[in-house]
Parts: sequence; C-alpha cells; structure tokens
Amino acid sequence: PLVDAGGLLTAARARGGAVAAFNVITLEHVEAVLEGAGRAGAPVILQISENAVRYRRDDPLPLARAATAAAEAADAPAALHLDHVRDPELLRRAAEAGCSSVMVDAAHLPYRDNLAACAAAARWARANGLWIEAELGVVGGKAGEPPPDPHHPAARTDPEAARAFTAASGVDALAVAIGSRHAMTNRAAALDHRLLVRLAARVPVPLVLHGSSGVPEDELVAAVRGGITKVNIGTALNVALTAGVRAALADDPEVVDPRRWLAGGRSAMAATAARLAALVHHPPTA
Ligand code: G3H
Ligand code: ZN
Repeated sequence: PLVDAGGLLTAARARGGAVAAFNVITLEHVEAVLEGAGRAGAPVILQISENAVRYRRDDPLPLARAATAAAEAADAPAALHLDHVRDPELLRRAAEAGCSSVMVDAAHLPYRDNLAACAAAARWARANGLWIEAELGVVGGKAGEPPPDPHHPAARTDPEAARAFTAASGVDALAVAIGSRHAMTNRAAALDHRLLVRLAARVPVPLVLHGSSGVPEDELVAAVRGGITKVNIGTALNVALTAGVRAALADDPEVVDPRRWLAGGRSAMAATAARLAALVHHPPTA
C-alpha cells in the first residue's frame, strides 16, 4: 500500500530501526524496489530526485503516478518522496505528484539562506500535510559538482548548529554530513559515529544518511543503531542494474526485445533492494 513517509519514519525511529529510501529513475527501479521490499518484509521509500525529473523530460508526474500506482498494489508499505529539490516550482508540485515528503537541497547555500529556504518550505509543507527534509553540512558528490573532500571538517554537520537549525526552520527530518558521499561505486566511506551520537542527542527529528551506497554494510548497521532513521540509496541500485543488463546483453548478442535484457537488470536491483531494506529495517545486533 501507499503510505506517508512521515509515518514510516516516526515508526522506525520509535523502534530503533530505519527505512531504506531508494532513488528511482525508471519503472524497472520502482518494480524492483517494491519487489525487494516485499521479499524483505520491510517498508520502503521510493524517491524521485530533481535530476531524475530532469531526465524524465522535466515532468515528475508520469514516473510519480506509476510509482504511486505500483505502491498501492504492493505487499509492502511504500511512500513517495521528492529528493534533492532546488527548484521551488517543483517543490510545490510534490503533493500533486503523490509525494508525502520532499527534501530541500539548499545546504550548498550560506547557513541563513539554507534556513530561509527550509523554513519557507516547512511552512508550506505543514499547510499541505507533507514532510520536509533539510540538509545541514555538505554531503558531497552530487552530479555536476566538483569532487568533494569528505575529510574536510567544515563539511561535517555541527551538532549545535543542527539543533538550532531544526528548531528555527521547523523541518521534519535532517540530512547530516558524517563522512558519506554521493555516487560511490565501492563501499569505502568511513562514518564518524561519535559525531552521529552527538547529533542524535541534540536533534529531535529523524536523521537522514545520504550517499549510503558508499557505506560498508556493518557501518550502515552501526549508523542505524547510532540514530540514522532514513537511509538514502541510489548508486547501489544503478550498479546492480547496469551489471545485470551487461550480463544479459553479453549472454545473447542477438537479443533485441528490451524485456529480455531489462529483466536481468530489474532482478539484480530487486536483490540489492531486498538486502538493504531488510538490513536497515531490522539492523542485526553486534
Ligand atoms: O539522495 C540520494 C542518496 O543520497 C543516494 O546516494 O547514490 O550515493 O547511494 P548514493
Ligand atoms: Zn542524496
């Protein structure tokens, strides 16, 4: 069934688990994530990034409507979220697209501008029954940006600033920079777990980890145990999809029907989604 992201995150936080939020670009992504969630017996968030909207000819509705229709028919509870939104016009189309939450991507701006953008979005979201996720600190590696230095201390989220930002903006969830980075194809990120504990102690809303594809699985489990409630995963699905498609094409160089080679990519994504959704839903004890 299609559910609200806020309800999923509130419930996950109350029981010390997290919800995996997967970036979807094609209908195959949507089907794979829902299949994986069903297999894992775990709820999921389907998220469409502003970049994905640009790829989908600047219109969020076709993919969003497919995603909500698929979620309504799915066994596992699934919510729809609009991710990394910089365009205020797109933000305001979230409800129409069936999203129950939106991430405002403004952490690259000066603190005051990030705060102003998130406070305005949070006011609008409250009036419209949506959740707003903000980011404070810089999780680098976004498309079109110069390569980040994840070890630069200024890039990390300061706990006191995070507390003040959350209180002043009224946002419902906060993405924090604790050592992860977007678009890593190997699991080589090292998280600052001590910083996470300090953030979790000060920030009263669910914390979000971006760039989770680059985080080793044991570190992901530790992050959930340390207070991360939403685990954003994009690249890991695309690694699986592309490997599955390559294998299917290599297997049969004469193949023409796209269903024959897309199905292999979709199965590979479903396996990845099932594994990660289960891992963060019920993080194993050490
Ligand atoms: O918001 C999306 C995520 O942060 C995904 O990052 O592609 O590195 O897993 P990733
Ligand atoms: Zn992200």
